[in-house]
Amino acid sequence: MSDLSQKALNIEDLRQMARRRLTKALFQFIDRGSEDDIALRHNRAALERIKLMPRMLNDVSKRDLGITLFGKRHELPLVIGPTGPAGYAWYRGETELARAAAKAGIPFTLASTSNTPMEDILAVGGGTQWFQLYVWRDMEASLIAVDRARDAGFEALVLTVDSTVPYNREFDIRNGVTFPVRITPRNLVDTIVHPRWMFGTMGRYVLAEGHMPRYRNIEIPGELAPAEVRGFLTKNDTLNWDFLRRIRDMWPRTLIVKGVLHPDDAVKAAEFGADGVIVSNHGGIANDAGIAPIDALPAVVAAAGERITIIVDSGFRRGSDVLKGLALGADAVIIGRPTLYGVSAAGEPGATRALEIFDAEIRRTMAVTGLPDLQSVTRDHVILPGQLSA
Ligand SMILES: Cc1cc2nc3c(=O)[nH]c(=O)nc-3n(C[C@H](O)[C@H](O)[C@H](O)COP(=O)(O)O)c2cc1C
Repeated sequence: MSDLSQKALNIEDLRQMARRRLTKALFQFIDRGSEDDIALRHNRAALERIKLMPRMLNDVSKRDLGITLFGKRHELPLVIGPTGPAGYAWYRGETELARAAAKAGIPFTLASTSNTPMEDILAVGGGTQWFQLYVWRDMEASLIAVDRARDAGFEALVLTVDSTVPYNREFDIRNGVTFPVRITPRNLVDTIVHPRWMFGTMGRYVLAEGHMPRYRNIEIPGELAPAEVRGFLTKNDTLNWDFLRRIRDMWPRTLIVKGVLHPDDAVKAAEFGADGVIVSNHGGIANDAGIAPIDALPAVVAAAGERITIIVDSGFRRGSDVLKGLALGADAVIIGRPTLYGVSAAGEPGATRALEIFDAEIRRTMAVTGLPDLQSVTRDHVILPGQLSA
């Protein structure tokens, strides 16, 4: 069957392809935010309000999209962020994403709640890989993943700190979403009317592994009943700065704190030994009344930009968005849904298509902004809403 994802002209096209292939429940789980989707929409609105200020008559015939992150060159200013359901969207979707990232020359971040053993993804996916950590109620069991990721050879650990309680996602309850995914009377019709997903993803797990996908990177005691597994997977709301110190002592390589928005928290993360922070609201999922990361970025850069690496995410859908993030001082931009839509539509080629679209859009926007490389982009290349005349 021909791969339609190659016909996608923008990320929205990939989103529509993902919507058609996935069940409604899984698509909304991926696509929506929380509560009233205000933060989700606001992430986009905040990016759209920022304008680029181009400079003319620079030779832009040889544009270099490379950046250096934690001492290593990458070919695009992007990182694929951790997204738990990649392995539900496509058979071994995490490996597909890792491969797409490796081919594009950018880092891939593996989520805690992935369905393929981390060692396999690292070996098969190749490239630069980071591991993301959620801390569950059973802290000691959660920390087993840190040792495992260290021994496997992940280059960075991403500690997510904006998820201490379950998100308020009423649509997930209405749609009958369960994790690990199970086919229940509630979601049976939704599953049957999406045969490409039912056979192509769930069916493949059953054929290849003999069961529905399971969490393969969380130490869940084998004898727990499904309801107890859900209890085990409750996030830990006691997380504090001492815990960051503990992780710093355990992790010898790059340590990144994900979900920081206040400049003082970024400074504190640096003081506690983090190498980087990700200015993020979890793609609009964490807090529906929260600030957009692009609006929080300038203060974080002013406070901590000299000391640590600063990455931003949430709502980046166009190459021009990425340039706005870099102009406001970010060292790189994380994308979550764009490559997840791509992998949902068509596996690795779909994720690669998402990255090609970003590559082409960044390249074009660099030209019209007068930028031969990304080291040349400065605060002078953006105009914030307050700077515009009414
Ligand atoms: C469906 C979905 C699952 C996610 N799972 C995780 C996760 O397991 N761990 C984590 O730190 N962030 C997770 N995130 C947040 C992403 O890493 C990232 O911060 C966010 O998607 C960026 O926004 P964007 O989707 O608008 O690009 C998830 C996001 C989505 C949409």
